[in-house]
Amino acid sequence: MNSLFLQKRGTICGRGPYGNWGSRKYLISSLDQSLRRMKLDYVDIFYHHRPDPNMPLEETMGALDQIVRQGKALYVGVSNYKAEETQQAAKILKEQGTPFLIHQPRYNMMDRWVEDGLLDVFTKTGIGSIAFSPLEQGILTSKYLGGIPEDSRAAKKGTYLDSSKITPELISKIKALNEIAVKRGQSLAQMAIAWLLKDERITSVLIGVSKVSQLKDNLEALNNIKFTKTELNMIDKIILEK
Ligand SMILES: NC(=O)c1ccc[n+]([C@@H]2O[C@H](COP(=O)([O-])OP(=O)(O)OC[C@H]3O[C@@H](n4cnc5c(N)ncnc54)[C@H](OP(=O)(O)O)[C@@H]3O)[C@@H](O)[C@H]2O)c1
Repeated sequence: MNSLFLQKRGTICGRGPYGNWGSRKYLISSLDQSLRRMKLDYVDIFYHHRPDPNMPLEETMGALDQIVRQGKALYVGVSNYKAEETQQAAKILKEQGTPFLIHQPRYNMMDRWVEDGLLDVFTKTGIGSIAFSPLEQGILTSKYLGGIPEDSRAAKKGTYLDSSKITPELISKIKALNEIAVKRGQSLAQMAIAWLLKDERITSVLIGVSKVSQLKDNLEALNNIKFTKTELNMIDKIILEK
């Protein structure tokens, strides 16, 4: 029997009101379809992608509980849930006895929303976290310092990174961050990943790459995940000041 990590990310599975979001029907049928496609009996972690504003949380958490009890997932996780929603989800799942293992939030040096309560929920509940978009779509790397490379995400149509976001003001911040990274003996991508991993509430980082060389570069981040107070203050000053 095999297992692997499956990330359900809002896959539309069928027409009608139950083809997406957080209903029991959607979650169970979408996992069943995925398991069939992957020829697997179960997944290690089944994530719910984002809270459903039109569905009681009990319904969604009930579906996650049912999935674990059916043996189709070992653990459950959520993504994009705010602090309060995570706390409520944890309470419901605890009552049901379902192992709520991990939260997948968007988090990087430039996108700090998790610092407004969610990280505290991780401390209180012991839920782990895996940060997605650690490089802010590639902005937190040195790739845009000399212009927009043809093979980059910003140069491609239909991506979440529009080239108009790469402004001279942004580039001057990235240059300043890159200088700190160089002094630390890291690439900027490595420093951005290390910056997340310095916090023990961040269990892991979900890296996305378009080349094997980027994967190799990013993995080297693990060689230095310690920061001095001065470095952290300098990073905050560069990013948070207008
Ligand atoms: N849970 C959710 O709602 C959610 C939402 C979005 C994503 N995710 C997950 O998170 C993963 C990562 O997200 P993301 O792709 O947005 O991550 P990201 O870290 O913000 O951006 C990754 C991009 O940065 C560039 N890059 C990576 N390493 C580099 C390096 N060493 N040097 C230069 N450029 C580098 C590559 O873009 P180029 O194409 O420019 O080379 C790569 O595709 C996704 O694969 C997905 O599984 C989850």
